[in-house]
Amino acid sequence: MRKKVTVVGAGNVGASCALRIANKELADVVMVDVMEGVPQGKALDLLESGPVEGYDVSVTGANDYAPTENSDVVVITAGFPRKPGMTRDDLLMANYEIVKSATEGAMKYSPNAIIVVVTNPLDAMCYTAHLVSGFPKHRVVGMAGVLDTARYRTFIAQELNVSMESVSAMVLGGHGDTMVPLVRLTSVSGIPLTELLPQDRIDAIVQRTRDGGAEIVKYLKTGSAFYAPSAATVEMVESILKDKKKVLPCAALLEGEYGVKGLFVGVPCKLGAAGIEKIYEIKLEAAEQKELDRSAAAVQELVDVLKQKTA
Ligand code: LAC
Repeated sequence: MRKKVTVVGAGNVGASCALRIANKELADVVMVDVMEGVPQGKALDLLESGPVEGYDVSVTGANDYAPTENSDVVVITAGFPRKPGMTRDDLLMANYEIVKSATEGAMKYSPNAIIVVVTNPLDAMCYTAHLVSGFPKHRVVGMAGVLDTARYRTFIAQELNVSMESVSAMVLGGHGDTMVPLVRLTSVSGIPLTELLPQDRIDAIVQRTRDGGAEIVKYLKTGSAFYAPSAATVEMVESILKDKKKVLPCAALLEGEYGVKGLFVGVPCKLGAAGIEKIYEIKLEAAEQKELDRSAAAVQELVDVLKQKTA
């Protein structure tokens, strides 16, 4: 039987996820959105691409969760996007309500699914999905590190004029201005980045990575990125559905790893059929740990606001 993926939110990110899942023939897709007609229309349009693209998966849209029954993976993209000048954190309370209701709707029909959270502010929305679903922690995972790492790899490849595929890296921490690109572990086919670029160029790339989401928002003005975010999301979905066990930076609930307790923060994870199958706790240098602490503190601040306002 084919796998099934629900994508909540039929906006740019959600529809691009559906498109990529269909193109890769990973699963049947159900798009859910509160906007009447939008998920149905986009789904039909995607389905009608099948004869040309050569995929046979079904793509449907709905305004309720009944058709999502027995999904293997639920991707939550629904929420307000960032506007220029707005931080991810400004979105907190508005998107809390959206992610809460998406989680409730989806888990009712797919109690065994793995939830992949994409909505911002990412780490706090993972916390929300985990709390509301009551799912075990390995079945709630957040997409951010793969995207942030993709941006970092892009900028390095551009700077060195080498293939993007040759750049191996990992961006940890929260999906915000305090994210932690691990320069020490960045390499080009095994050659340490620090041997290829002077420190000031590396610093500039790290900063551009941290501002990567805002850079796109500044261009688009009315919305945020969706091509790279959907590519990153679908890499995670594929690793789960095909049990590929890719090691990817993902937002995972930490319970003492890296000195963080009770928060979702980006760390290296093995993603397979069970969801997060392993969290790799690598030894960080003091300065790296300090940056990760700072990033975790930023996530903690948001979660504290959530806890206060929803108490
Ligand atoms: C970004 C937004 C979606 O990083 O968080 O592009």
